[in-house]
Formats: sequence, C-alpha cells, structure tokens
Amino acid sequence: MKIGIDKIGFYTPHLYVDMNKLAVERNVEPEKFTIGIGQEKMAIPPITQDSVTLAANAALEILDDNDKEQIDFVIFGTESGIDHSKSAGVYVHELLDINPYARSIEVKQACYGATAAIQMAKGHIALHPTSKVLVLGSDIARYGLNTGGEATQGAGAVAMLISADPKVMVLEDKTAYLTKDIMDFWRPVYSDKAFVDGKFSNEQYIAFFQQVWERYKKQTGLGLSDFEAICYHLPYTKMGLKALRTVLDETTEEVQERLTTNYKVSTTYNRNVGNIYTGSLYLSLLSLLELKEDLPEGSRIGLYSYGSGAVGELFSGILQPNYREHLYVERHKQLFDDRTEVTVAEYEEIFQHTLPTDGSNIELDIGKDPAAICVSGITEHMRQYVNKHR
Ligand code: HMG
Repeated sequence: MKIGIDKIGFYTPHLYVDMNKLAVERNVEPEKFTIGIGQEKMAIPPITQDSVTLAANAALEILDDNDKEQIDFVIFGTESGIDHSKSAGVYVHELLDINPYARSIEVKQACYGATAAIQMAKGHIALHPTSKVLVLGSDIARYGLNTGGEATQGAGAVAMLISADPKVMVLEDKTAYLTKDIMDFWRPVYSDKAFVDGKFSNEQYIAFFQQVWERYKKQTGLGLSDFEAICYHLPYTKMGLKALRTVLDETTEEVQERLTTNYKVSTTYNRNVGNIYTGSLYLSLLSLLELKEDLPEGSRIGLYSYGSGAVGELFSGILQPNYREHLYVERHKQLFDDRTEVTVAEYEEIFQHTLPTDGSNIELDIGKDPAAICVSGITEHMRQYVNKHR
C-alpha cells in the first residue's frame, strides 16, 4: 500500500526580526548570522501564539470538511507543549472541528517528534487504509536574550495530512534510525528556555547523520545518485550543509552539484523563519517542493530528522504525479509577504512578555494578531483559545 503526505501546510507568526540588525545590537559581524549561521529573519511569536495555535493555524489552511470527517488520529509533535498532562492534540482537534471519533495525542523527542508521529501514522494507516491522520510539528524555539543560541530561535508549525494514495509524496518503508542518550540540548520541566552544549550538538547532529546514512545505504542498496535532494532538520541553515558535505565525495560532480543546489532551495523558508524544532525538517521539504518548480515527479527525496537527546532517522519519499497542484505556494508567499518587522528592542520586549505562571488570570488583546486562531487568555489555570473563523 502507498502511504504518505497527502497535504502539507505551514504557519509562522506575523512578526520577525532582521538578523543583520540583531547582529549589530549584539556586537557581532552581521555575516556571522547571515553566512556563518545562515539566517536572514527570525520569526517572533506574540503572546497570543503558542504551540497549539501555531499548529492549528497551519492545519486550518489544508483541511476541508471531508478530511475532518475522515481524520481518526491527531498526532501532535512538540517540545514546547503547554500542559504536562493534556495533549496539545486535543485542543487542535476541538479548534478545527474534527469529528469526535478520533484519537488525539502528543509525542515528544525534541525535534524528532513529528517524524515519530509520521511513522506512527504510517503504521495506523497500514491497518486502517481508509483513515487519515493529522500530523502536527509545532514549536517555539527559545534560548534567551544574549545567549549563544539566540540567533537560532524561531517559531512556526507544519501540518501534514497522512493517508493512503497520497497526492504529494509516498513515504518509502526502508528507514534507518538511531538512539543514544546524550546531553547536547535539553529543557528541564522548570525552565521555559533550552539548555544547550552548542558545539557538541553540532558534532552529534553530524555523527548521527553519518551513522544513519551508512545504515540506510546497507539496508536499501541506494546511494547519493538515487536522490534528487536530501532535506535536513535545520536548527539553522548552515547545519544541514555541514552534514551533507561529509558524504558528498561518495558521488560524481554532477550529483554533488544537484544535491548542493537543491539543498540551498530547501533552506529558503527556514532561513526566513528560524528553528521551529519538530516542524523544521518538513518546512525544509516544503521550501524545496514549493520553490523548486522543475523538481521531477517520481524523484526520491531524502529526509534527515534529528532530535537532540538524541534520536536520528534517515528515510525517503517519492514525489507523486502532479504533486505541485496540491501545494499552497501562493498562500505561503502571502504569509511571508504579510509579515511585519519589529526592532530588536521590540523583539526583546515581546520575548519577555510571557503568560503568567503564578495562577493568575489574564485577558489578551487578540485584535493585533492577524492569525485566525489565537490564545485569548488564561482563566482559572485554563488557556483560552479563539478561532476567529467560527
Ligand atoms: P557560536 O559560538 O555563536 O558560533 O555558536 P561560532 O563561533 O561557532 O560561529 C558560527 C559560524 O559562523 C562558524 O562557521 C564561524 O566560522 C562563522 P562554521 O565554522 O561553523 O562553519 N562566522 C562567520 N562567517 C562569516 N563571517 C563572519 C563570521 N564570524 C563567524 N564574520 C551555535 C553557534 C550554532 C553553536 C549556537 O548558535 C547554538 O548553540 N545554537 C543552538 C544549538 C543548535 O542549533 N545546535 C544544532 C545541532 S542540534 C539540533 O539540531 C537539535 C535542536 O534543533 C534541538 C532539538 O532537537 O530539539 C537544536
């Protein structure tokens, strides 16, 4: 049975900061951020967006009434969830009016969560071929003002409808994965900001890539020339390139050129959003599919997922006939065009303006947030959500 991505949507908040300007404020040469790290703009979430609303906004644009009837599983991958008990999937299920006869859960393993969700969805559809699964990867990446990780923050979500006979990409069954208990990046439950051993995390990202790539090659008999492109989890856009470069000498100059060119296209959206953790790999896939207009149908695309802590996986998909007709290219162009730049001072203020954690109530002004789905406040310890389209 062919199972894979039938639809893919994306959302990022309407505010961003320019990395050149952030560099100047931090007394860093702008090229360090724009070339060394490879980021142009960083998405800034207003207080009225959290991981739930980002995901719900990403899914809102792709789901029609039939999908909402057929979805029987909502799997929400996140590492910036809003509750230790109730899953973010249940909130999204309600906000999008998905039929009640569905399972809704949250999965976590750093940036690997959405990949775990996709693999779970595949297994579910293999058993129940008529069902559709909504997979969400949604996060707000926070390291803190003036920290080493600051330039690699971001916010956004990717929503994917996984089904049999998908219109965009069939996911192949052969996949190589790896788990090792390491402390390269983590976020204890008492902290709203991540802790990171930056250099070590870079090394491990690459080491995991090399290990799963070797295993994938053994399992499949495939090599670099069998890929039109390889998309990477992108904590920042230079990161995937560092991993890709370690294997490029296995192939011809022509294939090297193709993979490097397509890598660049696959990083465009991420370069303008920042790290969105679980959704990041799929934002890179979206960037490639939407911006590279002549990517042939039937092409094999590699996908490298890495979640600190750590789990890595290399798998692949095959682009389906007429896949471009099922993308939302114009809507995403509009989403980027409609964003508003904030100054570094405004970004710092927004960063520090967080929801109360002392149990007090708050009512938020959602009028300034153009998103359809927003956090409107907290009442009696319960986050309140509004879908303006209802
Ligand atoms: P840093 O110490 O600020 O930067 O940390 P640096 O000194 O390593 O410089 C970065 C690059 O800029 C270097 O290039 C410099 O040469 C270059 P490289 O040698 O790496 O190719 N550079 C310049 N280039 C041009 N012109 C200049 C210039 N100056 C310097 N003038 C670091 C960077 C990424 C470590 C930091 O931002 C950080 O800790 N970020 C967070 C951790 C992270 O993103 N790790 C990535 C792998 S782990 C992962 O992907 C998982 C994650 O997504 C979490 C999850 O799974 O949930 C993070």
